[in-house]
Amino acid sequence: MIYISKLQFLIAFSATVGQEFVTGCLGHSSGSLLKIDIASYTNTSGHVHIYIPYLGINTTSPFNKTFSLALDRSIALDGTRIENRGVFIKSDKDISVYATSSLPSSGLRYYSDTYVVIPIDSLGNKYEIASYDPNASTSYPSVFMVIAAFDNTLINVTFPNGTSISKTINWLNVYQEASPSTDLTGTIVQSTKPVSVLSGASYSKVASQGSSYDMLGEQLLPVNSYETYFIVPPIYSSYSFIVRMFSNQIPNRICVKDESIENCTMVGPTKWIESAPKSTALIVTSQEPISVVQYKAGANYYYMTNIPGLRQFINSYAFVVPDVYSSQTTYIAVTIRSSAIHTLRLDGSSPVNQIVHKANVPAPLNEYMVLTYTITPGYHVMNSNETNVLFGLLSFGFVSTTETAFASPVGMLMRKYNIFHE
Ligand SMILES: *[C@@H]1O[C@H](CO)[C@@H](O)[C@H](O)[C@H]1NC(C)=O
Ligand SMILES: *[C@@H]1O[C@H](CO)[C@@H](O)[C@H](O)[C@H]1NC(C)=O
Ligand SMILES: *[C@@H]1O[C@H](CO)[C@@H](O)[C@H](O)[C@H]1NC(C)=O
Ligand SMILES: *[C@@H]1O[C@H](CO)[C@@H](O)[C@H](O)[C@H]1NC(C)=O
Ligand SMILES: *[C@@H]1O[C@H](CO)[C@@H](O)[C@H](O)[C@H]1NC(C)=O
Ligand SMILES: *[C@@H]1O[C@H](CO)[C@@H](O)[C@H](O)[C@H]1NC(C)=O
Ligand SMILES: *[C@@H]1O[C@H](CO)[C@@H](O)[C@H](O)[C@H]1NC(C)=O
Ligand SMILES: *[C@@H]1O[C@H](CO)[C@@H](O)[C@H](O)[C@H]1NC(C)=O
Repeated sequence: MIYISKLQFLIAFSATVGQEFVTGCLGHSSGSLLKIDIASYTNTSGHVHIYIPYLGINTTSPFNKTFSLALDRSIALDGTRIENRGVFIKSDKDISVYATSSLPSSGLRYYSDTYVVIPIDSLGNKYEIASYDPNASTSYPSVFMVIAAFDNTLINVTFPNGTSISKTINWLNVYQEASPSTDLTGTIVQSTKPVSVLSGASYSKVASQGSSYDMLGEQLLPVNSYETYFIVPPIYSSYSFIVRMFSNQIPNRICVKDESIENCTMVGPTKWIESAPKSTALIVTSQEPISVVQYKAGANYYYMTNIPGLRQFINSYAFVVPDVYSSQTTYIAVTIRSSAIHTLRLDGSSPVNQIVHKANVPAPLNEYMVLTYTITPGYHVMNSNETNVLFGLLSFGFVSTTETAFASPVGMLMRKYNIFHE
C-alpha cells in the first residue's frame, strides 16, 4: 500500500490529519446528536482516548481502520454562555476526525451538517465567523462556538455591530454565542492561544430558496490557513449555491468567475462578500489570502462547507462518509486535472463506474474538472497512484425523507500554528 508512505510525507507539512483534537456540539434549540467518526491513516491498529468531562466519559479504545461514537444529546448547548462541554480526542496513530450533528425526532433525523475536525496543531488565533441569517420567528439562532485547546485563553470577540467583548476560557471550556435575530457572519474572534471555532445556523433557508429549513455547520479555518485560488464545485444534481468570501487583508481584490461572467470586488480589511446564486463550477481568486465557504441553496435542504484552496489539495485521503440516516444518498466531489483522472483509486480500484457527473471548470483553470461519484457511508481511502497528483475532495449527502443535507471537505493541507504563529 504505497499511498500510506506518501501520505506521511505530506503530513509533515500538517493537514486535517493529526493525533490531538478538541471539538464541541454547536447549539440547537432542542438538542442535537453529535456523532464522531474517526478514520485511520495507518494500516496498523491504534488506540483512541476520548475525554468528555461533561458526560463523565474518559475512555481509551482500540481501533483498526475506523472508530465511531455517538454522544448523548445533552452535550449540545443552548444560547449564549460558557460551559465545560468540550470534547478531547487523542490517538496514537494519525487520524482524520469527522463530527456530524443531526436532530433526532420520531425515529428520523432532521437538521444535520458535518465537518472535518481540525487538529490542535493546525488551529489559529484569529477567525472570521461564517454563519447565516437565522429565522427570526423561531428560537433557532445564528451561532458560533469557541473551544479552548489550552488553559487560560483570553478571547476577544468583535461583533458586526462594532461591540467587543472578551472572556477567559480554560481547556475544554466552550464559549457559545447565539443570536436569534441577526446573522453573526463577520464577527472577528481573536485569542491569545490557538482555539477551535465552529459556526453555523440551526434552522435557515439559503438564498430564500425552497420551502423548508435546515441546519448549517462547519469548523472554520483560521486566517493563517487562507488561500488565493479556489474551484467551487457544482452540487449534484444542479442545485444552486452561494459562496461567502472572507478577507483578512487590505487592499484585497476578490474575483468570482463562471462560464459567463467575471466579477471583481475590492474588499476592505476583515470584510466579507457574497456571490450571486450559481449552479456551475466557479473560480474564486484573490490578491491576498481569503476563505471561501459554499452554502447549498436550492430545494429544501441546505449545508455549508469550507472550500479547500488549490494549494491545500492532497494525494491520498482516508476518511469516513457519515451515516446520518438510512434513506440518505452520499457523494464525493473530486477536483482534479483532467489529465490525471485515470490515476484515481477508491479503495484500491478505479471508481469510474461510480461517476454520476462531470463538470468543466472555466478558464484559466480549465485544465481541472470536478467529478462527482456516488459513495457508500463508512470508511474509504481515495488516492492517486501517481505521487505528484494532488486533488481536492468533498463529501456530501442528502436525507430526502427529512429534507436535510450535510457536507465537508474530506481533508486539506493546513498550516501549523507553531510555524506560522501570528
Ligand atoms: C495493510 O493491510 C493489508 C490487509 O490487512 C495487508 O495486506 C497489507 O500488507 C498491509 N500493509 C502494510 C503496509 O502494513
Ligand atoms: C482519564 O483516564 C486516564 C487513563 O486513561 C487517566 O490517566 C486520567 O487521570 C483520567 N482523567 C480523569 C479526569 O479521570
Ligand atoms: C483489529 O484487527 C485485528 C486483526 O484482524 C483483530 O484481531 C482485532 O479484533 C481488531 N480490533 C478491533 C478493535 O476491531
Ligand atoms: C420561520 O420559520 C417558521 C416555521 O417554520 C415559518 O413559518 C416562517 O415563515 C419562517 N420565517 C421566515 C422569515 O422565513
Ligand atoms: C478587542 O479587539 C478590538 C478590535 O481589534 C479592540 O478594539 C479591543 O480593544 C479589543 N478588546 C480587548 C479587551 O482586547
Ligand atoms: C451587538 O451584537 C451582539 C451580538 O449579537 C449583541 O450581543 C450586542 O448586544 C450588540 N450590541 C449592541 C450595542 O447592539
Ligand atoms: C458582483 O459581486 C458583488 C459582490 O459580491 C455582488 O453584490 C454582485 O451581485 C455581483 N454581480 C453579479 C452580476 O454577479
Ligand atoms: C496509475 O494508473 C494508471 C491507470 O491505471 C496507469 O496507467 C499508471 O501506469 C499507474 N501508475 C503507477 C505509478 O502505477
